[in-house]
Amino acid sequence: MSFTNQKLHFGAAYYPEHWSEERWSEDIRLMKAAGMTVVRMAEFAWSTLQSGPDNFNFDWLERAIDQLAAKGIDTVLGTPTAAPPAWLVQKYPDLLAVDESGRRVQFGNRCHYCVNSPEFHSASQQIVKAMADRFGDDPHVIGWQIDNEYNRVCYCERCQSLFQQYLQDKFVSLEALNEHWSTSYWSQTYSAWEQIPIPIGPHNPGLMLEFKHFISESYRKFQLMQLDILRPRLKPGVWVTHNFMGWYNGFDHYTLTKDLDLASWDWYVGSGYHDYLQSGAAHDLARGFKRRNFWLMETQPGNVNWSPLNNSLNKGEAHLMAWHAVAHGADAVLYWQWRSAPGGQEQYHGSLIDQSGQPRPFYAEAQQLGGEFKIASEWLAGSVVKTDVAMLNCYDSRWSIGWQRHHHDFDYVAHFNNYYRPLSAGNVNVDIISADEPLDGYKLVVAPSLLILNNKRIAQLKEFVKNGGCLVLTLRCGMKDDYNSLLPSRQPGSLAELAGLEVEEYYALHDPIPVVGDIFNGSSRLWAERLKLLDGNLTIPIARYGVCNGWLDDQAAVAVHQYGKGIVFYIGAYLDEFSQQALINHILLTAGISSIKTPSGIEVRTRVRTNGEELFFVLNHTRAEQTFSWPWPGVELLSGQVRTGEVKLAPYGVAILSKNAGDNPA
Ligand code: GLA
Ligand code: ZN
Repeated sequence: MSFTNQKLHFGAAYYPEHWSEERWSEDIRLMKAAGMTVVRMAEFAWSTLQSGPDNFNFDWLERAIDQLAAKGIDTVLGTPTAAPPAWLVQKYPDLLAVDESGRRVQFGNRCHYCVNSPEFHSASQQIVKAMADRFGDDPHVIGWQIDNEYNRVCYCERCQSLFQQYLQDKFVSLEALNEHWSTSYWSQTYSAWEQIPIPIGPHNPGLMLEFKHFISESYRKFQLMQLDILRPRLKPGVWVTHNFMGWYNGFDHYTLTKDLDLASWDWYVGSGYHDYLQSGAAHDLARGFKRRNFWLMETQPGNVNWSPLNNSLNKGEAHLMAWHAVAHGADAVLYWQWRSAPGGQEQYHGSLIDQSGQPRPFYAEAQQLGGEFKIASEWLAGSVVKTDVAMLNCYDSRWSIGWQRHHHDFDYVAHFNNYYRPLSAGNVNVDIISADEPLDGYKLVVAPSLLILNNKRIAQLKEFVKNGGCLVLTLRCGMKDDYNSLLPSRQPGSLAELAGLEVEEYYALHDPIPVVGDIFNGSSRLWAERLKLLDGNLTIPIARYGVCNGWLDDQAAVAVHQYGKGIVFYIGAYLDEFSQQALINHILLTAGISSIKTPSGIEVRTRVRTNGEELFFVLNHTRAEQTFSWPWPGVELLSGQVRTGEVKLAPYGVAILSKNAGDNPA
């Protein structure tokens, strides 16, 4: 089942349980007037749906679904397991999670459960089964969201013994575990599984990595338990998702998304304003979870309430952000939330309807979007983002680096974005995928800080380059194995053959140092690697360090190597923005990838329709009017006008342009 989008959905999170039923018809009228096609409901409604062990009350939810459906609004249902109710917690106090300091967490702030509690599991099974029995074949329930933003880590004794069991299943013998973790170091040797702790703070790197795997597996099992109940009860075509949190790093998202039909995520700016070069990566990350379009299940309608400073987005900014998400592969945009609840922890959060029941000023902006989605929906249904460029993401590498940063400012995602941003500035579509995915079909693969290497990865990368691919390896590549143990070779491990070099030494930098290259003249910050060229004249240095700490003076910083039919760049420096852009432009040329030059702040993205036609999104991320020259006559979808030459974009303006067959970019 492919779950292809039939339309572009627009909606909000709706909590009818916060209001008396007389109000619903007015809410639904306003939703309809805003052009909404979908709401998400019930993901925190456990206490309303089940007021005691055998007291279910689903009638209100059915009435809400029906009333919405009568106005053509579909429903996504959340399983309410992120909010186990008070009666359940009272009955099984032990289902509350335990925090790092050994304290039980308090009821009432959601996600207070221990994900491995058997009592919590049975109660979850009961409510999910009852909901699925009741609504699984409801024609107006088009999808399900399991739980809400998994994030809790539990340190209870049960979790500890399950962790020990997990380790036993994985390593089989303690000798193997001791060996992989080098436990003779600081006398960490284990002689019984029960001795192994859950790491609190810095600990043995192997132990820390396995605990992350254990958390990922615990959530996967919990999710699978719900999926197994839902799937047989849902009518064909109804999908199941979970709403993830972008670059959140609490678990391996590839493990968690494996079993789902669809990926979705919640995008909040928090304080400040939207930075499209960065948020594009978070969308592409979500699209890469299932390697297909995703839902933006929640986004901010103005301001949030949880940041130190909850400024509102500028007028027009959220509207543009919605199109930016669609341009990167979103098939739905839902605001969080429809209306402010009178009580509860989120009274100050942005919404479309305020406490008085009247539309906020933002409602008009949402309404504009709803109208546009309706127009664009037919064009965009089934369209996808296509690209020749992949960036490889690896949670294990990210965690390992995060725990041993070596320079306190070194951040895996920031370094990743240092590669994403110049690609994005050139308007190059990028897939962000797991480092374990096959690489067929790509021309250029960028692997930022792929610290953890294993045979599968080595074989895939080798194959890719041999067959003519262009591979970019960067600093902190190929240093460790799957157990977070140092490889018995210099960086980049077995990729040295591909790169035609090895890393003789790595340095955390106190201050930026000069890097002088054929293509740029700039600097490296935070990190620098001294490269030893191995393959005679075939490894060509294209940049060297200037005079700095003595060790790096005049040493190779960036090198390029031909391997098979392909080519490998190794970048040992953490380049400044300008140099990085120049280098990436050069790499794009080498790999034969075309970029689109636009003024700063103007983004161009493409989605390809089922008939092969490309649609171009031109997005003005600035607050000034911009003109952009459009090389061929094309219809602008939202206005229905034919545009060519100078296209004017209002502040935060959007144009979606078709490309008529036969017309070529200049
Ligand atoms: C998260 C949650 C929502 C809500 C918003 C507020 O994304 O999923 O329930 O709390 O944050 O920003
Ligand atoms: Zn626990």
